[in-house]
Formats: sequence, structure tokens, C-alpha cells
Amino acid sequence: MSQSAIERAADVLRDHPRVLVCVGSGLSVESGVPTFRGADGMFRDPEIATLTHVSTFDSDRERMMRWYQERRDKLHTIDPNPGHHSLVQLTQTGEYTIATQNVDHLLEAASDEAGFRPSIYHLHGSLLEVRCHDCGHTFEDLTLDLGELPTCERCGGPLRPGVVWFGESLPVDALHRSNRAARNADVCIVVGTSGLVHPAAALPDIARRHGATLIEINPNETALSDICHILIRDKAGTALPALLKEVRRS
Ligand code: APR
Repeated sequence: MSQSAIERAADVLRDHPRVLVCVGSGLSVESGVPTFRGADGMFRDPEIATLTHVSTFDSDRERMMRWYQERRDKLHTIDPNPGHHSLVQLTQTGEYTIATQNVDHLLEAASDEAGFRPSIYHLHGSLLEVRCHDCGHTFEDLTLDLGELPTCERCGGPLRPGVVWFGESLPVDALHRSNRAARNADVCIVVGTSGLVHPAAALPDIARRHGATLIEINPNETALSDICHILIRDKAGTALPALLKEVRRS
């Protein structure tokens, strides 16, 4: 890890309080949650691309719901890592908005441990949520086994996880608030994302076009690296604690 990159990033953050943080699956890797792409990514299994597309809800619903229930069950076994905790603490040093592509609850869990909740917008929904595919009734219930194909108590429609599948639109409110944060940000931190999936991947460039300084935290080069001003080539669980320590250093 280049200490100078951490110091430069901390200098920018200390002087510019309005920050958008764009989060991807790399932030949860050190909690035991696999990424989608890359050597150990879920997509090395070609079936996963099918299981994450809306059309499969009609063509192979039971297989799809069993896979999502397996992911929901795993939520009970994972905890926030130092990257989640440090990012939550970092939000207390300025006006932060977090736009996450992740469907886990680890940032909320870290927030609960810290005793405050920053603005977190789930652009791709949440595995904790269950939604009726017909009427849209949405609620949180991790005890519900989606593999049993439960139906909506309001309309009888099929229940599904409250996540965004390929072929579906992102939640309007989360996307609108994240876009507004990108337009107003002085700094945009991009952590743990390959920057390949739009419209989430467009947020850093929107921030940059409105004058923001971009900081990338990722051990690897990504589709966004070329537009980032400061590259911290390290894991989130190492870089974010170091960044927090440096920002707090007066
Ligand atoms: N710390 C930080 N970044 C990491 C770490 C780590 N410990 N380990 C891996 N990474 C990086 C990888 O280098 C990669 O750039 O995390 C990124 C993960 O990229 P993807 O697997 O493409 O995940 P993400 O960008 O979140 O995918 C976006 O694609 O399939 C859809 O809906 C899904 O939300 C997901 C979206």
C-alpha cells in the first residue's frame, strides 16, 4: 500500500466534507462474501449469470429461489469486517452518502455497532427484504424460506428476494439520491467494485464531471481506475482503517 496515496486521500477528505462512497462486493470479501467477477468470483459458475436474471424467475423459479435462500441463510454467518467499521466511522468526519451495490446488511450491522446510521442507499436492493413480484409489497423477514415458494398475503402473488435482477430497473429513490450525491460531492471514494455494471458504475464519473476528486480502493485495476485521481491498491479491510486513522490525525 502506498502510504503517500493514503496521505493524499486523507488530505483531500479532511478539506472536503461532501463525500459519496460507491461500494461493491470487494468491501464484503473479507467478511467471507464472494465477489461476482475475478478469479474467485461467483460468475466463474456460468449458472450464476442465469440465476441473477429476471427471466429465470419464470423459467426455473424453484432453483433460483433455493439459490437466493442459500445466500439469505449465509447472512446469519457473516459479520462486518474492519473495512465496514472504518467506513462507518469515516462517515462521521463529513457529509457522507454511501451508494452500495451490495445486497448484504454488513454496513447496517457496523452502523448499529457504532450507534449511528449514515445515509446508505442500496442500488441493487437487499437480501434481507422480501418483495411480492406482483403487487410490490415489501418487508424484511429472514425467517421466510423463499425456496418453499411462499406467496404474498395481500394478493397471493409469488414472493422473491428484494434484490434487483439483471433485466430489472434499480430502485428509483436510491438511484435518484445517489445521483444527486454524485453531482454535489467534493470527493468520491470507489471501493471494491469492478465498475462494470451500470447505472451504478456511472456514479463516479458523474461526480468527477461535477468537480469531485476520485479515490479508488481496490487491490486490482478496474474499469474506473483511469478516471480516479488517487489509487489505493490495497484491500478495503486494510486501506479503510489506515485512511480513517490518517483523516483523524490532525
Ligand atoms: N478489497 C477491495 N476490493 C476488493 C477486494 C478487497 N479485499 N477483493 C476484491 N476486490 C475487488 C476486485 O478487484 C473487483 O474489482 O472487488 C471488485 C469486485 O468486482 P465484482 O465482482 O464485479 O463486484 P461488483 O463490482 O460489486 O459487481 C457489481 O454486478 O453482478 C452484479 O449485482 C451484481 O452488485 C453486483 C454488480
